[in-house]
Amino acid sequence: MASRSGFSSRIGFVAAAAGSAVGLGNIWKFPYETGENGGAAFLLIYLACTILIGFPVMVGEIALGRQAQANPYGAYTKVGDKNWGLIGLLGILAAVMILSFYNVVAGWAFGYFVQITFGDLLVQEDFSAYFGNYVANIQDNLIYSLVFMAITAVIVVRGIQGGIEAASKLLMPLLYVILFGLIGYALTLENAGEGVAFYLIPDFRKLNYGTVYSAMGQAFFSLSLGLGALITYGSYISKKENVVSAAAIVTLADVSVAFLAGLLIFPLVFSQGQTPSTGPGLVFVALPGIFQGIGGIGGKLIGGGFFLLLAVAALTSTISLLEVPVSYFVDERKWPRKRTVWVMAGAIFLLGIPSMLSLGASDFFTNFVYYEGTDKSFFDLIDDVFNNIGLPLGGFLLTLFIAFRWKTHNMSKELELGFPGYLNSLAGKYINFVIVTVCPFVLGTIFLLTVLQKFFGVLEFG
Ligand code: TRP
Repeated sequence: MASRSGFSSRIGFVAAAAGSAVGLGNIWKFPYETGENGGAAFLLIYLACTILIGFPVMVGEIALGRQAQANPYGAYTKVGDKNWGLIGLLGILAAVMILSFYNVVAGWAFGYFVQITFGDLLVQEDFSAYFGNYVANIQDNLIYSLVFMAITAVIVVRGIQGGIEAASKLLMPLLYVILFGLIGYALTLENAGEGVAFYLIPDFRKLNYGTVYSAMGQAFFSLSLGLGALITYGSYISKKENVVSAAAIVTLADVSVAFLAGLLIFPLVFSQGQTPSTGPGLVFVALPGIFQGIGGIGGKLIGGGFFLLLAVAALTSTISLLEVPVSYFVDERKWPRKRTVWVMAGAIFLLGIPSMLSLGASDFFTNFVYYEGTDKSFFDLIDDVFNNIGLPLGGFLLTLFIAFRWKTHNMSKELELGFPGYLNSLAGKYINFVIVTVCPFVLGTIFLLTVLQKFFGVLEFG
């Protein structure tokens, strides 16, 4: 495994991991989750989950990957044994399932770029109706998500240095620039203040148990934790690097983009008289309004540019998701890399089709199951099982693994490389404490309560 090709530099790893973290989770999912869960109170819980739990788990994941120099299954097997390896396999399955629906949404973003720049999206009168028709249009969805998966595959074929790093380094800074510009504009709109208040002034009466598990699921999803993507990326990072500070930068980048996305979306939603709790369509309905307001060729360019950047942010995330099963088949099954990438990409694209049909195109997939008192689509089910429940569960199992099998002193030794004095530093004490005592308890409890609440006895098909 000495020849495992790694990132060329520290900035390369940070850019790639931040590229993985920053994506649709920040700009599409975070605003609609916040909108559905009462605004500022959700924001606060999400920040707490990210900083108190997410960050230490991220350090643990990267450390495990670097120690083992392997994919998630290989990592748990080498550092633990075959039984612990099952955690890695679960993570690989979750990567496949999450990528299957993520790719569909990435296709929407890509399609919006095309329709704004070259089509008539911005002359519409009702963006909500437009979105509804758009997601139910199977032909367009198939094409855009197929193209998106193909681009992902091309980059993953080129491997870590060639593709993943280069794409991330270039485009991340651009995303900040356009976000800041749009926020400045959005805040001048009428009623923008109401949106800011909804987003930043907490109303704790809106808190309930659902807020907590949604916030935890969102924190894990957004940081790319819980299924081994960062084990995989960690396996490519040099032993000379400081994993703790790298993880801190990635966490900061991720949180800041999510925070800024909220600061853009809610003023828009309120200035356009929409409701913040409309679900997955939120940003696709709210954002075109601002570009229409800018108007003319400027509106087209800025609007097209925004969705293009969103698609690129999604691309650096789909890359990291596809890399998970690919590294497994290449490492463990000795498949040739190129063939593995194309087989996986094709299979995952097909697996995404039921999710694609979940927003009105097919009644069967749109009202696929019944739980929590309502009909849920296939898309909802996958999101709940593999993201909201699965990722924190993955974090729970990782921390059990570190606490009982790998042992924190061994993890600390790995972290001392690149961070001499880790064990006695404040950061080291904090991270080890959270991983061994806080995480198993908190994440275990959340897992149990969530499963009980969502599925206890009531999972009917039809
Ligand atoms: N974090 C990405 C986003 O916010 C999605 C993602 C990429 C992901 N890789 C992951 C989520 C691994 C969980 C695990 O858009």
